[in-house]
Amino acid sequence: MSKRWVRQSYDKMARLLGRKDTKSSHFPVLEGHPVGQEHAQEAVETARTVDRSKQRVLKEFQIYRWAPDDPYKKPFLQSFFVDLTDCGPMVLDALQKIKAEEDSSLSYRRSCREGICGSCAMNIDGTNTVACLKPIDADTSKPTTITPLPHMFVIKDLVVDLTNFYQQYKSIEPWLKTQHQPKDGREYRQTPAERKRLDGLYECILCACCSSSCPPYWWNPEEYLGPAALLHAYRWISDSRDEFTNERLQALTEDQKRLYRCRTIQNCTRTCPKSLDPANAINKMKTRHLVSKPVEKLESQYS
Ligand code: SF4
Ligand code: SF4
Ligand code: FES
Repeated sequence: MSKRWVRQSYDKMARLLGRKDTKSSHFPVLEGHPVGQEHAQEAVETARTVDRSKQRVLKEFQIYRWAPDDPYKKPFLQSFFVDLTDCGPMVLDALQKIKAEEDSSLSYRRSCREGICGSCAMNIDGTNTVACLKPIDADTSKPTTITPLPHMFVIKDLVVDLTNFYQQYKSIEPWLKTQHQPKDGREYRQTPAERKRLDGLYECILCACCSSSCPPYWWNPEEYLGPAALLHAYRWISDSRDEFTNERLQALTEDQKRLYRCRTIQNCTRTCPKSLDPANAINKMKTRHLVSKPVEKLESQYS
């Protein structure tokens, strides 16, 4: 039985019994960010376990290794042991320690170490997430397995090729497109309500956790734009200042594979480390497109 399951059941019971949600009362700053709440709770548990221990806490990390210098050598999982009493709380801290103290050839991307740049995306114990926001599981009875984002070409170790991913992002033209000068000649203004429509969209850090967890994207990575690029497409479609909404929607739908390959499996939403909802954004774009067309035209197009 997983710890996450136990915690979720406990919280559910607490809610049913009318007790206060323990997590949100501990981390009010993470209100509305379920993944953040979960990670914060895990980090607290790890810190408690390490604090309670009077001796070294050795945790095994099994890390995917493959290097282009020896292309015929099969990829393998290499074990490293890290003393958690002498390490930061996040998986990225453990990787940094391994690289600094044990094997400087270990390759992975990272920059901000606070969930802003999206560089450190990888698969940790079967879930795509960013390593700097993922607390180390202090349970030393089992290893933590770290592999590259799935279904992406590996450049080295945990570094994957994101060229196609960024090209697709570029293809949705992620910038404000207008035909007229701003009314005051200085800036395009929004009401607070118009600005609020961008919440849940602009926060995307382009980590690619969602796209690399999406089965249709695995199968059609070139034609289907994937949840990350589509979330950004919806961000600009939703922007009250943008004057190319219809053209953007047309560009997404003139080739059926770009948007409609989404099968609403929702892996993207489940895995997003920023608690965003790309599946919902995709559904809204589909709805906008469908209601904008006469039924006869849709029938002939999609039959
Ligand atoms: S939607 Fe979430 S998972 Fe996808 S790229 Fe943006 S931040 Fe990453
Ligand atoms: S909802 Fe759509 S985009 Fe998200 S994982 Fe499923 S198929 Fe992919
Ligand atoms: S290092 Fe920037 S998101 Fe993890």
